[in-house]
Amino acid sequence: MSAAISPEIKANGASIPLLGLGTWELRGRSCAGMVEQALRLGYRHIDTAEMYDNEREVGEGLHASNIKRGEIFVTTKIWPSHFAPRELERAARDSLSRLRLREVDLLLLHWPNPQIPLADTLGALCKVKRDGLARHIGVSNFTVKLIEEAVRLSSEPLVCDQIECHPFLDQSKVIAACRKHHMAVVAYSPIARGGARNDKLLARIGAAHGKTAAQVCLRYLVQQDIVVIPRTSKERRLSENAAIFDFTLSAAEMKEIAGLTRRDGRVVDWSYSGRMQWD
Ligand SMILES: NC(=O)c1ccc[n+]([C@@H]2O[C@H](COP(=O)([O-])OP(=O)(O)OC[C@H]3O[C@@H](n4cnc5c(N)ncnc54)[C@H](OP(=O)(O)O)[C@@H]3O)[C@@H](O)[C@H]2O)c1
Repeated sequence: MSAAISPEIKANGASIPLLGLGTWELRGRSCAGMVEQALRLGYRHIDTAEMYDNEREVGEGLHASNIKRGEIFVTTKIWPSHFAPRELERAARDSLSRLRLREVDLLLLHWPNPQIPLADTLGALCKVKRDGLARHIGVSNFTVKLIEEAVRLSSEPLVCDQIECHPFLDQSKVIAACRKHHMAVVAYSPIARGGARNDKLLARIGAAHGKTAAQVCLRYLVQQDIVVIPRTSKERRLSENAAIFDFTLSAAEMKEIAGLTRRDGRVVDWSYSGRMQWD
């Protein structure tokens, strides 16, 4: 069994490995296999969601790895159509049963749901935590305004906001709001759904360090204490995406990469949240 390859960051009482495996779109045997292989390689953080329809396979991979439960940080997310208090608790229990776990390390509200009062949803999320179904709770896709509201309404600490975050998107305001409340920023789509691979600047900086553009992209985030959860369906890329803790980007390189933000940098369609079916 290999040792953990990723340092952890502290956020409101939680210790979160800076590197995790994203699992959106990983399905069936390949999903279970990738989770198992990632854990064998030293990943200690796995990100799933009820919406990914793969919690069963993620659970299979977790159990097949034979790594002690206490060494692995598992996140899942509740879909907004289950934000009514009773439904939230049931959804959390269903996720645990699919994962074959007694508790998850982190349970997130997947997207805001303007149709259900946030106070009610957070009340239910806090209760689920107090009942021992989740060690920590947090949010995802929350704006600065919603973070402020959630922090005010939550009786338990919120440990993160999971947001789209990579060099092509300016998330400085949300990041500042998280830092103000000692919440971790968890970057989803951290290599811009693969888009970072073809970036000339990232490739040039990578060449100077003997690294790929994707590795530079991930390093840029973890060097700011931002948690990254890159997804891959290819075993060779598991190692590539994990080899980001053995080099350092200079201040000048960090500044150059920060200049990559652009107005149309978002890769996940936000209007999606407005179009969601809530029931
Ligand atoms: N909270 C939310 O609303 C939310 C939204 C989106 C995603 N997420 C989470 O965040 C995770 C990551 O985000 P994501 O899946 O959207 O995008 P991502 O991790 O930025 O990119 C995944 C894509 O990049 C490719 N890739 C992976 N490693 C690579 C490398 N080293 N070089 C070149 N290409 C590489 C993968 O292809 P191959 O499979 O061919 O390697 C895949 O097509 C998700 O899986 C999910 O767990 C959460």
